[in-house]
Amino acid sequence: MEGNTSIALLLSAVFSECVSRQYHFVNQKLSWSEAQRYCRENYTDLVTINNKNDIEELLKSVNDDQVQFVWIGLHKTNIKTWKWSLGDPAFYTGSDSQYRNWAHGQPNEDEDCSNMNTGEWCDYNCTHSTQLTGFICYNDSSKGHIPVHQSVIWRNAQSFCRDHHTDLVSVRNLTENTQIEKIRTDGGMNAVWIGLFRDSWEWSDESESSFRNWRTSVPDNVGGNENCAELWVKTERGRWDDRNCDIKTPFVCHEDELVLIRLNVSWNEALRYCRENHVDLVSVHSEQIQHQVTEVVKDASTAAVWMGLHHYCAMNMWIWLRGEVVCYQNWAAGHGTGQEDCGDGPRVGAVQSGGDQRWISLPQTHKLNFICTNSQD
Ligand SMILES: *[C@@H]1O[C@H](CO)[C@@H](O)[C@H](O)[C@H]1NC(C)=O
Ligand SMILES: *[C@@H]1O[C@H](CO)[C@@H](O)[C@H](O)[C@H]1NC(C)=O
Ligand SMILES: *[C@@H]1O[C@H](CO)[C@@H](O)[C@H](O)[C@H]1NC(C)=O
Repeated sequence: MEGNTSIALLLSAVFSECVSRQYHFVNQKLSWSEAQRYCRENYTDLVTINNKNDIEELLKSVNDDQVQFVWIGLHKTNIKTWKWSLGDPAFYTGSDSQYRNWAHGQPNEDEDCSNMNTGEWCDYNCTHSTQLTGFICYNDSSKGHIPVHQSVIWRNAQSFCRDHHTDLVSVRNLTENTQIEKIRTDGGMNAVWIGLFRDSWEWSDESESSFRNWRTSVPDNVGGNENCAELWVKTERGRWDDRNCDIKTPFVCHEDELVLIRLNVSWNEALRYCRENHVDLVSVHSEQIQHQVTEVVKDASTAAVWMGLHHYCAMNMWIWLRGEVVCYQNWAAGHGTGQEDCGDGPRVGAVQSGGDQRWISLPQTHKLNFICTNSQD
């Protein structure tokens, strides 16, 4: 990534281990839309937050003590949709975040929270509590569902679950619905809060994340035009507030660590492209990176995708671009055996985009998509 040095000095970067993203704090005061444009031109987008851990990582990138607020990628749209309080897309597979078990005639489109009774769900006023005998939390460490006998408003139930467990319960399929219903009846409870809520906020990068971490009684839309979200860095550290999008404030961008480039080119052309536009062709020297590659190659248009692996005929060895020998390996049967055919020039490595994403050895003249990395290490 080329960048003018003075801007580069204003930036600091931290990698998040879980989401394979890098956070870039930009210490320039811009409106939300200007910040969005800046992030898209220089990185991937304004930052998306999936969970509490992302907030911690993001805050580490903010390296100026004077900064009080930063824009994040969340903004308001005209359409309200139902989503889960446990908003990390990694928790869901396929379309199971869309599983619903509404009672007949529900939701009747007037309330933004929901409760469960006799296994069926109803929408309900988030700030009412008297009809509810409690709520059910989910604990990701124990994978358990915990009934809590407290009549509180939905936000307080959410805070309790986040403080003591992981979040309010999500229901991903009929089996889970039946399990949770049993916990409700075993606990002698009537209607209980579940994690399903409705809002009209979406992320700039169109991510599925429904994780929200608003301050108490926010969003409040003071003045009727608070359509963008900022994260508080000092007081109420990590909490979010809705704000007028025209206000100018520093912001945080994110950059995906791995980027799939859907151009069909030779290995040498791919290498040049990555070095000019990112950092390098990807080196898959650990199972963790292979896992990230697996996510990224799903969208490839070729059956295999170049990575930064090449064969040294003279030494009869496979080596990553930065000189590391291959320790972690994921070769397809019959590939990477060391018995390479060096007749038509050195062979290079690609990862299959389908199946179980194994590695194959190919002549470098094949035309494939490729994966660049933005990581320096
Ligand atoms: C729930 O998870 C937390 C960690 O988030 C753990 O300390 C606690 O013991 C768990 N509680 C139960 C009841 O499993
Ligand atoms: C329900 O979802 C859980 C969690 O994803 C999964 O382990 C389980 O196999 C699913 N059950 C069915 C019947 O789909
Ligand atoms: C790249 O190759 C694939 C497979 O041959 C093809 O489907 C795709 O349209 C090509 N993409 C471009 C940009 O040429």
